[in-house]
Amino acid sequence: MRILIAGAHGKTARRLVRMLVEDGHEVRGLVRKQEQTGDVEADGAGPVVVDLEAEEVEGGVGRAVEGCDAIVFAAGAGPGSGAERKETMDYGGAAKLVEAAEEHGVRRYLMLSAMGAGDPEGGSEAMRPYLRAKARADERLRSSSLDYTIIRPGGLTEDEGTGTIQAAEKLGRRGEIPREDVARTFAAALENGNTYHKTFDVLAGETPIPEALSRL
Ligand SMILES: NC(=O)c1ccc[n+]([C@@H]2O[C@H](COP(=O)([O-])OP(=O)(O)OC[C@H]3O[C@@H](n4cnc5c(N)ncnc54)[C@H](OP(=O)(O)O)[C@@H]3O)[C@@H](O)[C@H]2O)c1
Repeated sequence: MRILIAGAHGKTARRLVRMLVEDGHEVRGLVRKQEQTGDVEADGAGPVVVDLEAEEVEGGVGRAVEGCDAIVFAAGAGPGSGAERKETMDYGGAAKLVEAAEEHGVRRYLMLSAMGAGDPEGGSEAMRPYLRAKARADERLRSSSLDYTIIRPGGLTEDEGTGTIQAAEKLGRRGEIPREDVARTFAAALENGNTYHKTFDVLAGETPIPEALSRL
């Protein structure tokens, strides 16, 4: 498949790019900074430079998605950003890509959401603007015509992956998960029809990833 990864220089995304390339996919890596294109190429993807928050972005996003079979939204404003960038990036960037996917006939869209986006008002005051933006992005995707999968991990860590997770529509507990296992979950979900039109939480766990996805 030809897959666009939005936020391709991110800590989860770089792992995912390398896994997808190893699986034989052709990967396009969307970044906003020219200086990151060398790393994207080193990971095995073709870089495309687009700032998802820029005003005059339509043409660029269209070019980025054109000819792709799937999109993974793995970008994010990051923990140091204020409420405004939650709106422009975490919601706006994701929504722009949903619209571009619809316009250009890209049917498959996987969203790297966050645990807690199902109930933003239940989050801490500091987390609420972020969770509200993630919730709106998920809602925009769910109300689209696309074959979506929305994956909501707990806190992301740099620990080594285990290849095993716990996944369910609602896990009902908080926790963490290594970025490597999140990336592997996306790689496994990409062509797994059982994940289409589903939204689910993921945490570190004991179930092999393919099995966890087939039980959803
Ligand atoms: N951290 C957690 O515990 C946690 C938990 C659950 C879910 N998540 C979500 O998981 C995702 C990945 O997290 P991560 O920690 O792996 O990501 P990360 O390392 O923070 O990477 C995010 C990437 O998004 C890019 N980006 C930011 N603004 C952009 C824009 N306007 N246009 C294009 N790209 C842009 C950043 O590029 P620059 O280098 O240019 O800034 C960065 O490479 C995020 O959506 C995050 O919200 C995080």
